[in-house]
Amino acid sequence: FNIAVPYNEPVLSYAPGSPEKKALLAAIHKAKSKQSELPAFINGKRVLDGEKVSVHPPHEHAHTLGHFYRGTKEHVHQAIDAALAAKQSWADTPWHERAAVFLRAADLLAGPYRARMNAATMLAQSKNAYQAEIDAVAEMCDFFRFNAYFLQEIYREQPLISPATIWNKLEYRPLEGFILAITPFNFTSIAANLPAAPAMCGNTVVWKPAETQIYSAVVIMELFEEAGLPPGVINLIYTDGPEVGDIVFKHRDFAGLHFTGSTGVFQHLWKEIGTNIDKYRSYPRVVGETGGKDFIIAHKDSDAEQVAVAMLRGAFEFQGQKCSAASRAYISAGLWPAVKERLLKDMNTLKMGSVEDFGNFVNAVIDERSFDKIAKYIDGEKKNPDAEIIAGGGYDKSEGYFIEPTVIVTKDPHSTTMEEEIFGPVLTVYVFEDNCWEEALHLVDTTSPYALTGAVFATDRNIIDHATKALANSAGNFYVNDKPTGAVVGQQPFGGARGSGTNDKAGSALNLTRWMSPRLIKENF
Ligand code: SER
Repeated sequence: FNIAVPYNEPVLSYAPGSPEKKALLAAIHKAKSKQSELPAFINGKRVLDGEKVSVHPPHEHAHTLGHFYRGTKEHVHQAIDAALAAKQSWADTPWHERAAVFLRAADLLAGPYRARMNAATMLAQSKNAYQAEIDAVAEMCDFFRFNAYFLQEIYREQPLISPATIWNKLEYRPLEGFILAITPFNFTSIAANLPAAPAMCGNTVVWKPAETQIYSAVVIMELFEEAGLPPGVINLIYTDGPEVGDIVFKHRDFAGLHFTGSTGVFQHLWKEIGTNIDKYRSYPRVVGETGGKDFIIAHKDSDAEQVAVAMLRGAFEFQGQKCSAASRAYISAGLWPAVKERLLKDMNTLKMGSVEDFGNFVNAVIDERSFDKIAKYIDGEKKNPDAEIIAGGGYDKSEGYFIEPTVIVTKDPHSTTMEEEIFGPVLTVYVFEDNCWEEALHLVDTTSPYALTGAVFATDRNIIDHATKALANSAGNFYVNDKPTGAVVGQQPFGGARGSGTNDKAGSALNLTRWMSPRLIKENF
């Protein structure tokens, strides 16, 4: 049995008249022509009970995509019981058969599920076709295929010496108990990977998605099912977070948390786990990717056009709702006029609106809470004498949660929008004197508690090397002369340190080993 080194799933263009565009439009039409009942999945059974909640596209309040049913505490107990009941036979399933389920899921996703998964992500999370394609298809396929390959490499490697008459062996067992996956709205691929990665390693999972991603989560469960995932291995529930936590974190068999979401929630959960530590059979693994305040810093000698394009794409693709999105930029004064001119020129061409018009670069932000929070930050800067809004600044939630891509130039490198995570299409720029490069590097490193992604622009090798060293702890994913978003599985494993997470690099062997409990076996013969 051999899994070859995978390739990255090719990203389709969705050019006018292309077959993929026709298929995608048909899938969007089909999804919109009916209201879906969105079930929870417990032990392979579809569960439709609890408080009925309607689901709308963030860009179109007037349309109803369907309903989910907010779950009860009973669902949490049932999901845990199902995960524990499925555990033994799934853990006993040879690793390559477990991997094969996810390899099949990747092939189904690249083929018959492609249009449907993209349509669901576009409608529910307001991603344009390109952003959906790189996430819900390409990145999700890549997670499944690369993790299957990494799993093989981990199992294959026996790093131990066995002298004559002794057989030493490492057995990579799954954790004892069940895993809780708590997943975000902003990447359908991350939502799928957080339960899938531990499952591939032989664990069983209770999966609680963000409410705003349930519509595409159901498509993921159907994909897993069609790929042959046995009932009970991944159980999808919609019970409120505090109720889930109240049961899961007091359970003896809670074995690990795989989390992507806010820093505040992660810290709260970690404290709860700490409080209950004496209840568990094993120390739970806690793996999380959390907040970011991702930066771009440009030296005076860098390429203005390259910097401007990185700012626009890094800050405004998917409305700035990537954990990796650039939200603070430090630009050398001599470079700034050219960067500003190009940035504003390009921003003038951006169209905003529904995902169904493929010409729209900007769609809606995820929900009202997010919209109000972002609008408040923009309003604060409108009143700030140290700040000037040079692009955007407008917002409107009458039909959908639309916020214009907004660029703020500030005289204060410690202003609120320079320091706090906004998670929306807002980029704040601080222009520093050309001879203050060192001070600018220091500001980048010390201004935020996060360290997820960041990008440095420079042409001189010594300056690049020095910045790379000076910012060694400022970003888990550090880009030189590129935007800080768009990590590709197998190429740039993703994750940050400091307040941004445990840095266990999603889509890597490092992450998979967190879901394993190795047993050493020594045998004399
Ligand atoms: N992996 C994504 C990116 O790099 C963020 O989660 O943009």
